[in-house]
Amino acid sequence: MPPVVRIEHLTKHYFLESVTVRALCDVSLTVEQGEFVALMGPSGSGKSTLLNLLGCLDRPTDGTYILGDDDISHMDDDRLSEVRSRYLGFIFQSYNLLPQYTVVENIEVPLLYQGCRITEKTRQRCIQLAELVGLGERLDHRPMQLSGGQQQRVAIARALVNDPHVILADEPTGNLDSRTSEEIMQMLIRLNEAGKTIIMVTHENDIAAWAKRVIRMRDGQIETDDRNTEPRIVQDVSSAFVSALNSLLSEAIQ
Ligand SMILES: Nc1ncnc2c1ncn2[C@@H]1O[C@H](COP(=O)(O)OP(=O)(O)OP(=O)(O)O)[C@@H](O)[C@H]1O
Ligand SMILES: [Mg+2]
Repeated sequence: MPPVVRIEHLTKHYFLESVTVRALCDVSLTVEQGEFVALMGPSGSGKSTLLNLLGCLDRPTDGTYILGDDDISHMDDDRLSEVRSRYLGFIFQSYNLLPQYTVVENIEVPLLYQGCRITEKTRQRCIQLAELVGLGERLDHRPMQLSGGQQQRVAIARALVNDPHVILADEPTGNLDSRTSEEIMQMLIRLNEAGKTIIMVTHENDIAAWAKRVIRMRDGQIETDDRNTEPRIVQDVSSAFVSALNSLLSEAIQ
């Protein structure tokens, strides 16, 4: 199977008045389907810049990015947002939920971006995803009525709803206490067990310890890229969860 992500000689410069910030310099990387990658490195080393490029939220100054079968590097904005809503799922440190929407409505958002009509079938898909991440009793709650961990579960369900090629997470546990962080990481591990490719930025060794591969960045370049030979494991990766998720996601959206 070809890699799900392939970037070659990717460069990102920000031009600010008279200065050029070289945020990424000639980065090449491939990620295979089913990998769980942690991106680490000091502040300003280019982690978010790389994740934003991978997420088609920004465009490289130079270099090539192939996502699945699509060459992203020269796409116009419309195609780029189509690729983003179809093939990528996002999880952010601050959850980025819409405050006026309920749990189920927040999970539906990527479907709306994709131009899907919300039907009884899509609604059921979102309800089942909410149940799968443990929010079956909070379907009509709004983000303000949820704990941080619960909000991040909504974001995880939202990231899954379009059955993405890759889930991109920028410090998904950055706002959570250690016990809740653990729960969120266990959930990400379950998604990975179900075959989802995950690329996650983190500052914390404890969090990176769950990933199967750890890439460290410095000054806009990859400094090290190592297999984690003993990633932390979830004792009870439930095969029921994995098969429920896979059967849910295998259903066509429309
Ligand atoms: N929109 C922007 N305009 C100008 N410079 C930027 C912009 N975004 C990031 N930079 C610069 O690019 C470099 C890399 O930033 P980036 O946000 O990718 O770092 P990071 O590794 O995510 O850091 P942190 O751990 O603090 O989140 C930094 O020098 C930063 O100041
Ligand atoms: Mg960052």
